[in-house]
Amino acid sequence: MKIPKPTIKRLAVYYRCLDNMLNEGKTYVSSKELAERLKIKSSQVRKDLSYFGEFGKRGVGYNVKNLTVELKKIIGIDRRWRVVVVGAGNIGRAITNYPGLYKNRFDVIAVFDSDPAKIGFSAGVAGPVKPMSDLKEVVSSKKVEIGVIAVPAEAAQDVAEQLVDAGVKGIVNFAPVTIDVPPEIAVEDVDITVSFKTLAYHLRKYGKYR
Ligand code: NAI
Repeated sequence: MKIPKPTIKRLAVYYRCLDNMLNEGKTYVSSKELAERLKIKSSQVRKDLSYFGEFGKRGVGYNVKNLTVELKKIIGIDRRWRVVVVGAGNIGRAITNYPGLYKNRFDVIAVFDSDPAKIGFSAGVAGPVKPMSDLKEVVSSKKVEIGVIAVPAEAAQDVAEQLVDAGVKGIVNFAPVTIDVPPEIAVEDVDITVSFKTLAYHLRKYGKYR
């Protein structure tokens, strides 16, 4: 069955919320309560989860711990993933050293750059920045599944091809361009300006500007 992409995105949000609830010591939660926290409809929560099975009990709700474990499996974070970052600039360094990524089971094991002036200098938790000539060997020997593109737009396609050639299975693309890769390679584009533009649209629509 084809699961809608927004559902997959919401699963990650449910997981984050449930994990917080678990830390608060909560044992059961209803779809209504979960939906209220996330400011969405409870029917949406039930529909999203129903794609994957029967998790809740009528009248009792979901067992927070069990649902967290199930969501981990469904999302694919019941294991750790190995990640390489290409581009040791602002974004590349921020991603590499973001503790939330490690906490959510994504290990940035190396950072690469084409600028000789950056090679060998520390990229934080992933050690010294490596040259692009090492990319293939590192991806293959360390069995890296995910590549992050954190280079300027004009270099993104070339870097994407190098990542695919090296053997990554999925790419998170921070460059503001669409990259062209074989269909079996999963790509997730991240662009903070999209959030800002969406916000600008809403502010204008409701006349909230000076
Ligand atoms: P930056 O200039 O600080 O870093 C880019 C790094 O990429 C540099 O270290 C440079 O040497 C390296 N590089 C350039 N060409 C390369 C190549 N062919 N192979 C390997 N390394 C190469 O830039 P910054 O601020 O980190 O931005 C990186 C990218 O992220 C840009 O495309 C920018 O537009 C984008 N960006 C995306 C955001 C988002 O929300 N997705 C937010 C801010 C920036």
